[in-house]
Amino acid sequence: MSATADPRALAAQALAGVAGGQSLRAASAETSAKLHDPRDRALLSALLHEGARWWLRFDVALDAMLESPLRERDADIRALVVLGLVQLETMELSDYAAVAATVEATRALRKPSFAGLVNALLRRWLREREAQTAKLDRHVETRTAHPRWLIDKLQFDWAEQVESILAANNAPAPLWLRVNRRRVTRADFAAQLHAAGIGCQMPQAAPDALILDASRDVTALPGYAQGFFSVQDGAAQQAAILLDLKAGQRVLDACAAPGGKSAHVLETADVKLTALDADTRRLPRLRENLARLGLTADVRTGDAAVPRDWWDGKPFDRILLDAPCSATGIIRRQPDVKLHRRVDDIPALVATQKRLLDALWPLLARGGRLVYATCSVFVDENARQIGAFAQRHADARAVAAPLTWHAAGAGMQNLPGESGMDGFFYALVDKHN
Ligand SMILES: C[S@@+](CC[C@H](N)C(=O)[O-])C[C@H]1O[C@@H](n2cnc3c(N)ncnc32)[C@H](O)[C@@H]1O
Repeated sequence: MSATADPRALAAQALAGVAGGQSLRAASAETSAKLHDPRDRALLSALLHEGARWWLRFDVALDAMLESPLRERDADIRALVVLGLVQLETMELSDYAAVAATVEATRALRKPSFAGLVNALLRRWLREREAQTAKLDRHVETRTAHPRWLIDKLQFDWAEQVESILAANNAPAPLWLRVNRRRVTRADFAAQLHAAGIGCQMPQAAPDALILDASRDVTALPGYAQGFFSVQDGAAQQAAILLDLKAGQRVLDACAAPGGKSAHVLETADVKLTALDADTRRLPRLRENLARLGLTADVRTGDAAVPRDWWDGKPFDRILLDAPCSATGIIRRQPDVKLHRRVDDIPALVATQKRLLDALWPLLARGGRLVYATCSVFVDENARQIGAFAQRHADARAVAAPLTWHAAGAGMQNLPGESGMDGFFYALVDKHN
């Protein structure tokens, strides 16, 4: 079998890329395109996500079992063994099947000489499972597969919740949908799904949301092509509600791509939306999403911190700043954040968020509202950022967001997994008349 047809071999190559710095999303998309069977694609996705999620545990386990180190050019074999361990420990596969298929994948990688080593390592793990597990569980980094700096920062910001955050980051996220209320009601769409044998719940915390009972290929669900729904976590679905939209308003989504919140804004109210993003490569997805959902916006490329390049000078009644952030609230969906984010990235992100807030504030009409959002759990990017902003702008008044989340300075914070949602922060800032 060639590597192009073996999901484990492909996953090993892709995971080696992720461990080397490539984004999980890009590696996943690139590799998935090489597989045709939807079951193989599902296996690939599960392997890659679990592999990235648990890399910092099982890569250490592998090193402890190796008698001589693997060469750098055998990063694919390293990733393959990590995937073997992940299959044995976190995925519902029989030990025999997991070992046999992982050993077989060395052939698809065209490295059959490693079959013996891979087999020996996985069998040794099975023999010493208890002792090896106890050794890994002795240190919080290997017990939870998180880097030290991230654990320390979570401990500093969320001392009481740190263990539950670490656990939630390692639990796969449920599949949330947002029903397009312009096309179908939530209850009718839930009934259509049930009729097709697909279980779902209607959470109270988000009026347009459904949570599916199991993960699945959403493009194969009824109503996908007709734009009945989008995939969007429940926390992200609060933005359009918190904007408190009224028909006819001028609304700016300053960091809009790929358009999840823009689309929800347009589904919710008849507003004139400018959807801006600095990254031209992300805008085609935004346009496709709006087209599928039957929605229209003024889509622009531009740096939100430099309004003279794209703003027509007319104030906005509402501004959504869904700011670039550390993404530490969505590690359960993007586990490679644990591998790629560095503690030194945070001050630069905080500076960018500050620059965006200050540049956008003059564009807001008197009596208007700015909603600041991040999918971060760090106080620097959230409560402290908004506290400092309110200090700098005498005409800014922070308003309590109607959410039953953690009060975090002038804003509200959901921690990962709470109410089944992602970690998210919102602050509402109104401009004095
Ligand atoms: C958190 S994502 C936005 C997600 C989007 N709001 C949604 O719900 O689908 C942040 C976005 O900010 C964009 N961005 C980063 N810096 C920017 C800037 N200076 N001006 C405009 N967009 C920027 C990124 O390209 C990225 O698409």
